[in-house]
Amino acid sequence: MTATVPTSTTTMRAAVQRRYAGPEEIHVETVEAPTPGTGEVLIEVRAAGVDRGVWHLATGRPLVMRVIGFGFRRPRQPISGEDVAGVVVGIGPGVTRFSLGDEVLGAASGSYAEHAIAKEDRLVRKPASLSFEEAAVTPVSGVAALRAVERATITPGQRVLVLGASGGVGSFAAQLAVAAGAAVTGVASAAKADLVRSLGAVEVIDYRTTDITALNHEFDVIIDTGGLTPLRRLRRILSPTGTLVIVGGEGGDSLMGGSTRALLSPLVSLFTRQRLMGLMSVTAAAPLEDLVSRIEAGDLRPALTRTFPLAEAGKAVSELAAGRIAGKAAVVVSQP
Ligand SMILES: NC(=O)c1ccc[n+]([C@@H]2O[C@H](COP(=O)([O-])OP(=O)(O)OC[C@H]3O[C@@H](n4cnc5c(N)ncnc54)[C@H](OP(=O)(O)O)[C@@H]3O)[C@@H](O)[C@H]2O)c1
Repeated sequence: MTATVPTSTTTMRAAVQRRYAGPEEIHVETVEAPTPGTGEVLIEVRAAGVDRGVWHLATGRPLVMRVIGFGFRRPRQPISGEDVAGVVVGIGPGVTRFSLGDEVLGAASGSYAEHAIAKEDRLVRKPASLSFEEAAVTPVSGVAALRAVERATITPGQRVLVLGASGGVGSFAAQLAVAAGAAVTGVASAAKADLVRSLGAVEVIDYRTTDITALNHEFDVIIDTGGLTPLRRLRRILSPTGTLVIVGGEGGDSLMGGSTRALLSPLVSLFTRQRLMGLMSVTAAAPLEDLVSRIEAGDLRPALTRTFPLAEAGKAVSELAAGRIAGKAAVVVSQP
């Protein structure tokens, strides 16, 4: 069986980066449009989300990424972007869940482009209540937050700390923890405190002026998405049987970046009643369905605050890396 693709789709505009460098190297070119393989669909991209993963793929940092398959000398996928929302315009062999014309969101390969390929098991239908821009910022950050909150097994009344509550993952995690009945303290820069309060946090602490680990606070759950606070300091403000989920953090050494704490935490966990764990989230259909149903139930809303045209995709990634995006940003590729 061959793919069903529109004959008009042979070339497309895409935000491309052919070598590891800063996101300022990302530029728009006309390239060949992709064709869906087995189990894949071709999406006419309406909008694409901006997240830290795109910055990592642009810079090739930390270096361990190059070893695990993202391209040793240069990005294996020269087109940037993973989060996607758009319309199915081509169907590969064996696709059963989607038809031409379906509006979808999920994870694609190279979504900062007029067309992108996605595996059907990494997509779900877009609810009508979400704009394409909101849908586009949900998959990667939303699924990571959902997985973190699931692993933390939050119960009503618990005190939950979200480090990085103004960021992509943190803005979803704070809302999910509130929906689970927790009293959420968010850590963020002062300029984004209002956003964090609007997500339901009862308290916001500015990491630039206050070291939360030096305060007399105790949390049942800590979800860490920002900064590289050492494990021993986080454990100091975690209850004796509390749970720490490390989603990520920027900085660290050039080889491992911010991932060392996540790798170490299960080992430290062997010697304490506290549960310490790192998270490795995969953006797949099942958690996306869960997120979409929570959005439709009114428990969750993507904190979309900025949009950029495709020509400014590199700027969008630079702005995120510089800490100038509150919540989430989207690259708008085409209007219906
Ligand atoms: N494990 C996984 O599967 C997975 C999945 C997705 C992402 N990640 C990782 O998770 C991390 C967060 O991703 P993201 O997309 O949410 O990034 P983001 O949107 O840039 O958010 C980062 C957050 O961290 C805050 N922050 C910065 N420095 C801090 C500090 N010293 N102390 C406390 N908070 C600080 C920021 O606050 P302000 O903006 O207010 O300054 C912001 O809220 C990244 O490292 C990413 O690679 C991991």
